[in-house]
Amino acid sequence: MIVAHTFEEARHARGEGRVGLVPTMGALHAGHRSLLDAAVRSADRVMASIFVNPLQFNDPADLEKYPRTLDADLEICREAGVDVVFAPGPDVMYPRPPLTSVVVSRVADFMEGPHRPGHFAGVATVVAKLFAGLQPDMAFFGRKDAQQLAIIRTMAADLDFPVTVVGCPTLRSPEGLALSSRNVFLSEVERVRALGLSRGLMRAADAVEEGIRDAGVLISAARSEMDGLDVEYVELASQQDASPLSVLDRPAFLAVAAFAGAIRLIDNVAFDVIDGRFSPDRGIRVAG
Ligand code: PAJ
Repeated sequence: MIVAHTFEEARHARGEGRVGLVPTMGALHAGHRSLLDAAVRSADRVMASIFVNPLQFNDPADLEKYPRTLDADLEICREAGVDVVFAPGPDVMYPRPPLTSVVVSRVADFMEGPHRPGHFAGVATVVAKLFAGLQPDMAFFGRKDAQQLAIIRTMAADLDFPVTVVGCPTLRSPEGLALSSRNVFLSEVERVRALGLSRGLMRAADAVEEGIRDAGVLISAARSEMDGLDVEYVELASQQDASPLSVLDRPAFLAVAAFAGAIRLIDNVAFDVIDGRFSPDRGIRVAG
């Protein structure tokens, strides 16, 4: 495995065949590992990027305390069979503050958008730089961040990046908590409360399987499990552009953002149309 620190080194190491890219901010867990595995299965060469992107943090304290575990991350990449890790320093990624920003309007206007001003422009800008600088054929993202996935799909289509964007299921703890690099900050009590997010989403998924399509009813079902949490929003949104839906009538996701104590968590369950029926993607539960 080659560890590259500049775009040029990474391109030089990319090798022959179809290249799959897994962009990350490090602090890798089984959710990231599942993306690496998906890339290894479907691409000839796999690149992972590890970069804690300052542009997408609204709060400097959050950026400062974001977990950084490069040695362990490299080990996970090696085990997964990654060919090239691109781990640039901030000066390589942003030699000067960039004057160009990628703003995906509309898709970024809902849910996370208003709560995290500038966040999605930071995400879209860094992912556009990774697509331009590394030139992958495929890129793998988690459905855990469903709105981010919609933004990246829109950005890649609008800017004609010749990249196939692949969305992968959410990895969860055995109790249902969506794996996240920020979960390390949860106290024992907060972790128990945090289970309300996935319990609520699974309850709504049950309701969809029972034939319920009204967003208000699905949202109430989800909220009924979220008593111990400070909920910012629960919304049913279109997978295509993240716009709010009042009825489940197209591929959608039910998304929640909530504080468990001081820690802000997001989660969602996607509803895909398979054989003409709405089918919930509840994610995958794994040990550890
Ligand atoms: P990060 O939070 O490190 O996540 C990297 C990728 O892992 C994203 O595509 C995210 O959706 C996915 N992921 C996170 N938790 C997951 C889980 N439990 N199951 C499945 N996939 C999961 O998302 C980012 O970094 C950044 O915004 C990035 C796209 C790298 C741009 O800086």
